[in-house]
Amino acid sequence: MDFKKQVVDALVKVLPEEITEEQVTNLIEKPKTSDLGDYAFPTFILAKTLHKAPNMIAEELVGKIDTTGFEKVVNTGAYINFFLDKEAFSKDVINEVLTEQTNYGNADQGKGRNVPIDMSSPNIAKPMSMGHLRSTVIGNSIAKIISKLNYNPVKINHLGDWGTQFGKLIVGYKLWGSVEEVEADPINNLLKYYVRFHKEAEEKPELDDEARAWFKKMEDGDKEALALWTWFKELSLKEFQIIYDRLDVQFDHFTGESFYNDKMDAIVDTLEEKGLLKESRGAEIVDLSEYDLSPALIKKTDGATLYITRDLAAAKYRKDTFDFVKSLYVVGSEQAEHFTKLKIVLKKMGYDWSDDIDYIPFGLITTGGKKLSTRSGRVILLENVLNDAVDLAKKQIEEKNPDLKNKDAVAEAVGVGAVVFHDLKNDRRDSFDFNLEEVVRFEGETGPYVQYTNARALSILRKAGDVDYKDAENLAVTDPEAWDTIKMLQNFPDVVKRAAKDYEPSVVAKYVLKLAKSFNQYYAHSKILADDEGLKARLALVKSVSIVLQMSLGLLGVKAPEEM
Ligand code: ARG
Repeated sequence: MDFKKQVVDALVKVLPEEITEEQVTNLIEKPKTSDLGDYAFPTFILAKTLHKAPNMIAEELVGKIDTTGFEKVVNTGAYINFFLDKEAFSKDVINEVLTEQTNYGNADQGKGRNVPIDMSSPNIAKPMSMGHLRSTVIGNSIAKIISKLNYNPVKINHLGDWGTQFGKLIVGYKLWGSVEEVEADPINNLLKYYVRFHKEAEEKPELDDEARAWFKKMEDGDKEALALWTWFKELSLKEFQIIYDRLDVQFDHFTGESFYNDKMDAIVDTLEEKGLLKESRGAEIVDLSEYDLSPALIKKTDGATLYITRDLAAAKYRKDTFDFVKSLYVVGSEQAEHFTKLKIVLKKMGYDWSDDIDYIPFGLITTGGKKLSTRSGRVILLENVLNDAVDLAKKQIEEKNPDLKNKDAVAEAVGVGAVVFHDLKNDRRDSFDFNLEEVVRFEGETGPYVQYTNARALSILRKAGDVDYKDAENLAVTDPEAWDTIKMLQNFPDVVKRAAKDYEPSVVAKYVLKLAKSFNQYYAHSKILADDEGLKARLALVKSVSIVLQMSLGLLGVKAPEEM
């Protein structure tokens, strides 16, 4: 049932005719706390038409409003406050959640249309960084959120598997590496060669020339160069996969930059045909000075292609292949200019669908306030972070619930979930400092807190045994302590829509924290399992809460252990 509509209808009947239904709908607010009602209408805009003070207007209108279907309607200052009928409302909400179960909140906004999501996209031969973790979990969550609105997400891992850095890596490996060493600990050792290359190249610039030459060989299809590159890539993917498995993230395509090697000529041709390519000191560029941007570098002096060249080809390929309604790129905010340029160049090429490309930036993760970078060697290794988080979770479980079965599996779900939740709970554009202890706390605004709340709800339901909720007439909870929780349940479909519209998983994370908190308050103040006539309805509410808690965690890519 649409409760807001009920408020609008009641108002429209008593308001002057020139105020439209749409205006009323837009003016209605949700008071911060329930003691001011569930909806409020500010009367300020009527002051001019009615030549009266807003307070007076509110007072007069309240007398005229038909209160059928409301608990009460009162005026507070210039506002008219509507209190919904708790019985009708709670019955309606609980029934809907229990009927729809995991379909609760679904809508057909997307009509099944494709939305490619460029996400994760680590660079091979380097450790997956915290930035790539962010891209992975944000992208994964957005995929789940838009799925609920019936968009079809296509998760694409645009691996950094091509570019001059592989020339450097080959030079480094040939100078200082060995098969045994690489096989023993691939990514760390490859990183070591890479870091050393940068150090030594400062004094020996001829190393850079060698690296360029090796990359050129790769582009020209040289056997030895490609064999090394393939080897590095396979080893890297194997290590990345371990992390994806732990995060429970799957991809539809692992089409990295190299996938577009044979698709770039067509792009360069089109650029040429449209008269967009210019020569600048031997390189080929698209001039973007009219936008106050540095040029888009399409080909280097030696003919080597660049990051943006491959992204142009990828964008076109995705349009041709998926006929997308939206094409998303979850990439750190430091690449904002790159994506601005990408969209401008596509537009100049005549591809109006470039308007459907949405760049979804996110902030940095720092440690002790410092930026991380692979070149300096200052990286937090994601695997270590996950391991530490799981250890910490295990310790706390050991203290709280020493008899728990499958402790290791629960610790994994809690530790990994904690890291993921922490990443998603702030607006994605915000940077944040990473402090493990804070992330894995069981209280406060953390993933474990939500998981724990859900486990508590499930434990209540287990104690109650099998209950048949089909007997719908009784499922109303009018207890004032439960009211906030019930209203939050009703809000879930809106939360999903808002999260999807802004590509903002934090909307779901913040919501689920609030829901958990309000449920815990209810739990602290009421005897849920008391054997009286309201028992079944209270259990139905607990069940609804657990459904929505689990679904929300699921949308964030966080698991919900049954016990912890
Ligand atoms: N591999 C890149 C990096 O680590 C991110 C790629 C993002 N996706 C894209 N289509 N450019 O910086």
